[in-house]
Amino acid sequence: MKTHFHRKDDSQIYAEDVPLSVLAKEFGTPSYIYCLSTIKAQYETLSSTFAEILPKDRQPLLCYACKANSNKAILSALRSWGAGLEIVSGNELVRGVNAGFDPDRIVFTGVGKTDGEIEAALKSGIHQINVESIFEISQINEVAKKLGMVAKVVFRLNPDVSGGGHSKISTGRKRDKFGLSANRVVQAYDIADTLDHIDAVGLSMHIGSQVFEVSAFERAFRKLPELVQTLRGKGHNVSRLDIGGGFPIQYSDESLLDLKAYAEWVRDIIVPLETEIIMEPGRFLVGNAGGLLTRVISVKETDEIDFLITDGAMNDLIRPTLYDAFHGIEAVKHGEPSKTYSVTGPVCESGDMFGHDRKLPDMVAGDLCLIKSAGAYGFCMASNYNSRVLPAEILVYGDKYQLIRPRQTLEDILNAEKVPEWVENL
Ligand SMILES: Cc1ncc(COP(=O)(O)O)c(C=O)c1O
Repeated sequence: MKTHFHRKDDSQIYAEDVPLSVLAKEFGTPSYIYCLSTIKAQYETLSSTFAEILPKDRQPLLCYACKANSNKAILSALRSWGAGLEIVSGNELVRGVNAGFDPDRIVFTGVGKTDGEIEAALKSGIHQINVESIFEISQINEVAKKLGMVAKVVFRLNPDVSGGGHSKISTGRKRDKFGLSANRVVQAYDIADTLDHIDAVGLSMHIGSQVFEVSAFERAFRKLPELVQTLRGKGHNVSRLDIGGGFPIQYSDESLLDLKAYAEWVRDIIVPLETEIIMEPGRFLVGNAGGLLTRVISVKETDEIDFLITDGAMNDLIRPTLYDAFHGIEAVKHGEPSKTYSVTGPVCESGDMFGHDRKLPDMVAGDLCLIKSAGAYGFCMASNYNSRVLPAEILVYGDKYQLIRPRQTLEDILNAEKVPEWVENL
């Protein structure tokens, strides 16, 4: 998989044309570093594969799932290359609109939307709302009625297909909280027909993230034709199919998604249904583009294990702790991997661990360490646990680089907290 983090000969790691040591010196650590050229290459790979395999009039609207990485700079770049947007909250809608996305290229998914979020989405002129429950149909109808509008919705099918690199990011199984069974989708359409402020226009589906068992996509797609036929047989309009995201990336040596095979399933199963096609890729576009740059605080030798304690921690990148996710770890300096370390942070949890048994050069305090493939579900899941500040984010493009989010300060955290007078005077 393409990434623009690379080592120049016997030298240190670069992000595109910029040495990581330069970024660490200028912006400090821990910091997220993103290579914009990787994001661009990933976007082009997706769009060119579909351009090659799908008919011209069935090109998908690629709605970037901005939950993966919602920094405004990254949203702006993807928008400028032609992406639409998938959002899961009213705040993501504001981010998207601020980044210049046309609301008619934004889809709103998620299992629970507040009336306020629905209202904002409808007022913006959003492309569609992806409905996840029977309750939501009347909820959206009521909001649309108040606004004197008609809401375009699609119903999210739960195809009962297991997909997703970890149980916590599988979303298409019967017992997952997402979507509606096929029977309930039919029921939802019937209900929608009775409501004046709902225009049901299609279906959506998203079986999970990091779906490395790629045949799961095909199995899920194959659930659609019969359902579409049933719905059309009842006179319902199915003119959009949103087939979600979930494209896997390489964290270690996983086999890559055969994008051509994926596109061929879309061509063979989805295209004949003659609908608009929408996809919601997130991780695929940004995952390998990012790394968490950390500095070694200390090396702690124990009887069993040598711990490399960095200034990055689970609050900065939760994926290893939350999903047992693997992230490659490299010393920024060049050197033979002569030592084995467990790479961790200072947070007071044994689960604060970036990786066990990693082969690295002999490391000392002050050395830089790159936690790789951290561009998706990295910064956006960071927290202030242990009163640690959110890391900085830096975007690199060729030899250009810029801070796209400064490191949070302790003042930012403390100023937001208030002690009631009746506590001060206890
Ligand atoms: C509804 C929906 N669409 C798209 C995505 C993006 O998934 P991924 O980043 O794996 O492409 C997600 C994330 O799980 C999601 O919940």
